[in-house]
Amino acid sequence: MKSAPKTFHVKSFGCQMNVYDGERMAELMAAQGMSAAGTADDADLIVLNTCHIREKATEKVYSDIGRLRKVARAAGRDTPMIAVAGCVAQAEGAEIVARAKVDVVVGPQSYHRLPALVADAVAGRPALDTELPALAKFGALPARRRAGPSAFLTVQEGCDKFCTYCVVPYTRGAEISRPWTAIVDEARALVDAGAREITLLGQNVNAWAGEDEAGRTRGLGGLIRALDRLPGLARIRYTTSHPNDMAQDLIDAHRDVEGLMPFLHLPVQAGSDRVLRAMNRHHTRDGYLRLIDRVRAARPDIALSGDFIVGFPGESEAEFAETLSLVDTVGYAQAFSFKYSPRPGTPAADLAGQVAPEAMDDRLQRLQAALGRDQIAFNRASVGRRCAVLVERPGKLPGQMLGKSPWLQSVHLMTDASVSDLVEVDLVSAGPVSMAGIERVRRAA
Ligand code: SAH
Ligand code: SF4
Ligand code: F3S
Repeated sequence: MKSAPKTFHVKSFGCQMNVYDGERMAELMAAQGMSAAGTADDADLIVLNTCHIREKATEKVYSDIGRLRKVARAAGRDTPMIAVAGCVAQAEGAEIVARAKVDVVVGPQSYHRLPALVADAVAGRPALDTELPALAKFGALPARRRAGPSAFLTVQEGCDKFCTYCVVPYTRGAEISRPWTAIVDEARALVDAGAREITLLGQNVNAWAGEDEAGRTRGLGGLIRALDRLPGLARIRYTTSHPNDMAQDLIDAHRDVEGLMPFLHLPVQAGSDRVLRAMNRHHTRDGYLRLIDRVRAARPDIALSGDFIVGFPGESEAEFAETLSLVDTVGYAQAFSFKYSPRPGTPAADLAGQVAPEAMDDRLQRLQAALGRDQIAFNRASVGRRCAVLVERPGKLPGQMLGKSPWLQSVHLMTDASVSDLVEVDLVSAGPVSMAGIERVRRAA
């Protein structure tokens, strides 16, 4: 028998949905009477909430496990119990136990069973659960009691799109929407706990569908309109969206709903139709650009963000140039770009024409240079705007606070406002990744 852990630490990798899951696991363990350790290095139980999206992310788990054990040994402490959660747990399951001798393996849809699995591990029983029961976990998690100014709320999970490079449909299961009332209740609890902004999360969040209190079928746009009426909730965001699920009602919500922030993360991945077809994206370059036009018609100041993959198998230099020209056409306010990483079990991993590492590096560098230029241009164009900033935390300088503009820019300002205040500012200067603001008016939390 091992001794039961008294302290825990959750370390999340990957996307915002993992951050949300990590928070919920921490709440779950706290509800069991365990206390949060300051760092992983002094916890009895370490939960590694993992990401499988690229090879590097997966390999990081194994190096982390080794490092954590080494630190405990060097400090003369008992070996900590290690639980692997998240997408690597789902994808590799028992292999992780075989390779790294961890104590618990739990997938993203079954982490409500973490306390029971820890008890199994303490008793020396096998502790692995990678079932994918849709939505089971939500009913079994404790209510939300703590929230910062900006909180995450998962409303949709899973993916049915099967892009040929991507592991998410396998690690998170089929697309599923949480029910309307569960979401509204959780949003209300988050606001009661201090949140002024909520970001609705889903692997394909704009595929959310459900029935409202009156039994009417609604999409994400309808849900956002309802949440906008929650007293105390000032801002709503959502991520990540798929171009094909961008319903007109959601686009209209960007025109109609004051609390919906003018920001849209809409991954496109590549600018060439041949590559998009090989990726199984189900949309064309032109379809994406027309969609952007419709969104901009509804909300002219909207800030756009995207995800890009360079070096998809078979991508030629000319095809990559089409990604660059798409970037020029759209003018993103910010973006994420990645080198293609072949993932075991995905169709693209077996395609001929894997791109040489040097070409990948070169393309990523050129793409990031273009995206960086556009980000600075967007920030410079924001100078002179007056807007609300949601204060999130103190800055480095005395009297300085950091917050977010409606367009998701980091803004620093000198103010005596507190965390969670909304401060009216003039944006006065622009750096590559942040803006400076001068306070005008404050609206207290
Ligand atoms: N559901 C979202 C994104 C989920 S994964 C969407 O469809 O847009 C986040 C991003 O990781 C993707 O948008 C893609 O750009 C990147 N990504 C996914 N699989 C990848 C792979 N095998 N190699 C490199 N990047 C990948
Ligand atoms: Fe992955 Fe494509 Fe699904 Fe996004 S839409 S999660 S990239 S399979
Ligand atoms: Fe990674 Fe899983 Fe999110 S693979 S990006 S943690 S859905």
